Amino acid sequence: MMTEDVTQRQIDILNVLRESGRNSLSFQSIAEKVRLSLQQIRPGLAELANWGYQFEYEGEDQVRLLSIPDIFFPHEIEQGLKTSTLGRNIHSFETINSTNAKAYSLAESGEPEGTLVIADRQTEGKGRLGRDWFSPGGVGIYFSLILRPKMSASGCAGISLIAALSLAETVRESPELEAMIKWPNDILVDGLKLAGILTELTTEGDNVGFVVLGCGINVNQAKGEFPEDIRNRSISLKMATGKVVNRIRLLQDFLENFEARYFHFVSHGLAPQLPLIKEYSSLLGKNISFKRHGVQLFGIARDIDPSGMLVVDTDQGELLLGSGEVTMTENYRQ
Ligand code: BTN
Repeated sequence: MMTEDVTQRQIDILNVLRESGRNSLSFQSIAEKVRLSLQQIRPGLAELANWGYQFEYEGEDQVRLLSIPDIFFPHEIEQGLKTSTLGRNIHSFETINSTNAKAYSLAESGEPEGTLVIADRQTEGKGRLGRDWFSPGGVGIYFSLILRPKMSASGCAGISLIAALSLAETVRESPELEAMIKWPNDILVDGLKLAGILTELTTEGDNVGFVVLGCGINVNQAKGEFPEDIRNRSISLKMATGKVVNRIRLLQDFLENFEARYFHFVSHGLAPQLPLIKEYSSLLGKNISFKRHGVQLFGIARDIDPSGMLVVDTDQGELLLGSGEVTMTENYRQ
């Protein structure tokens, strides 16, 4: 089922109530404002209540909006969203195999830049390096953005880092956790994995065709809800703060932060944003191990270069890593 089933009539009623804030409105005044008959208001409110909206009634025909459900309704994501392109076209699903797979096929059929594909639950969520992404319903955010940057395929490698920076920034602003970027694109809190990014791209000659930027964030899971194999290295915002976090607000904050950083990156490259990426990077200065051509190597992560590569000092000299799995060999709970 898509979460696009709330009708425009219901959305109109909702917006009138939203505008009046804590003040209740009479059915008559709602009907006048949304140009419906008086008889259509009560069923409209009842349908909204079925979706999880809560109302407080005063007397026979006075009502005010009490709370909004944490469901990825496109009209709720759009509500107050301060972006020009990202999230302006939304495909929202209660359940889907993978938002990346869906976004990829939508991009192939020409959906525009900024299209957001989001799901409450994924049955085949994809992680990096062929892994699965644990995607239970109601507690996480799983979404993919279609991007069409006019740039070379090689220049586009920094997009994942820009997304990781935007996500770390979002989590640092609210709920104010010290989120770190684990190169290339994991987000850690207290050394544990909060979110991951999976970028897929097509090329047209030397240029980018489209990019699907997929992001999975652990928001309201309890520790025991994670499968055993990842339980000791995963964290959610709720685990870190002790509070339930509103998924839609977090998504909106990310879209706004990422839009500004993404367009800046497309026009000016990665270099201007590198200082902050490095400041938030959990690997720099640390002993790490990684695999290269099937061989386990060790070194010290020294820098991230302007193309987004990790610069590592090893016994054999300096190495540049473009992607792959890097493990901290000290102070890293893996
Ligand atoms: C990682 O391995 O760290 C990357 C995880 C990326 C998961 C997200 S969830 C939304 C999008 N759809 C997918 O199938 N995967 C990405």
